[in-house]
Amino acid sequence: PLKTVAKMLALASVFATSFNLFAAPVEIKFSHVVAENTPKGQMALKFKELVEQRLPGEYTVSVFPNSQLFGDNNELAALLLNDVQFVAPSLSKFERYTKRLQVFDLPFLFNDMDAVNRFQQGEAGQALLNSMSRKGIVGLGYLHNGMKQFSANTPLKQPSDAKGLKFRVMASDVLAAQFDAVGAIPVKKPFSEVFTLLQTRAIDGQENTWSNTYSQKFYEVQSHITESNHGVLDYMVVTSDAFWKSLPADKRKVIKEALDESIALGNKIAAEKDNEDKQLILDSKRSQLVTLTPEERQKWIDVMKPVWAKFEDQVGKDVIEAAVAANK
Ligand code: LMR
Repeated sequence: PLKTVAKMLALASVFATSFNLFAAPVEIKFSHVVAENTPKGQMALKFKELVEQRLPGEYTVSVFPNSQLFGDNNELAALLLNDVQFVAPSLSKFERYTKRLQVFDLPFLFNDMDAVNRFQQGEAGQALLNSMSRKGIVGLGYLHNGMKQFSANTPLKQPSDAKGLKFRVMASDVLAAQFDAVGAIPVKKPFSEVFTLLQTRAIDGQENTWSNTYSQKFYEVQSHITESNHGVLDYMVVTSDAFWKSLPADKRKVIKEALDESIALGNKIAAEKDNEDKQLILDSKRSQLVTLTPEERQKWIDVMKPVWAKFEDQVGKDVIEAAVAANK
């Protein structure tokens, strides 16, 4: 019954906003968990700028960064209650709504961001945008961040170096299995808690992109970063079916175009930040870079790749094959 009431309230507010009952501009909320100086942070601000420029007096966009409004644990639920209209969780955070997207978490699947992009823009990747339609979630596009690196308070060269260490992972069983494979202890925690967990040594390490490691200052509380490029951290920009359908078709079109352009800018920033933020971390000398020889990297692949087979049924063999093929 509580759920029904919540749903009715959500529908009523969608109804009220879609028919512009109060004649004030409709507020579109965009909530995310990262800082503003990140690909996602910049993308969201660009989206605000474009929507307000193109639909003046009709729509405003309020951007809430840094888990201010909603965090990892509740942003998708909030979306379905229409408490927020746009979120862009990392692809690892949709597990409760679809298992198919876990393809992106399989360790050492994509050679580089070009391969990730080819897969996302190809037939299989585009189909995945609709993988949560039955749950009322509409995928509007992919946004890049970059490849992930391991960080810890000890140099990780061999897979055995990770044994017994606690690593924060996003809420994804694949990512947990990836650390289980090297005898480490995965701990699922929301993004907003990672810095403190590392600082207090409640956990030993984490995996993330150069951008997140820089903007969250993880490098200040981690002695070593291993340039492993073992996985990808990208996003899906999503809205709810109820909100999306409530928009008049002509406005929806303008908003979608604004989103596509913002995503293009976000992707450009992602590519730049990947190098720049890495360099800023190295220049800070707070954290030491660990580079792997091809032989050392191969050892990580050998230990972690068996994880694929465990998730093949859930993710879909066809999806995995399409992703592998994107490496060319
Ligand atoms: C993380 O939780 O580490 C990332 O998904 C945060 C983000 O949104 O980039």
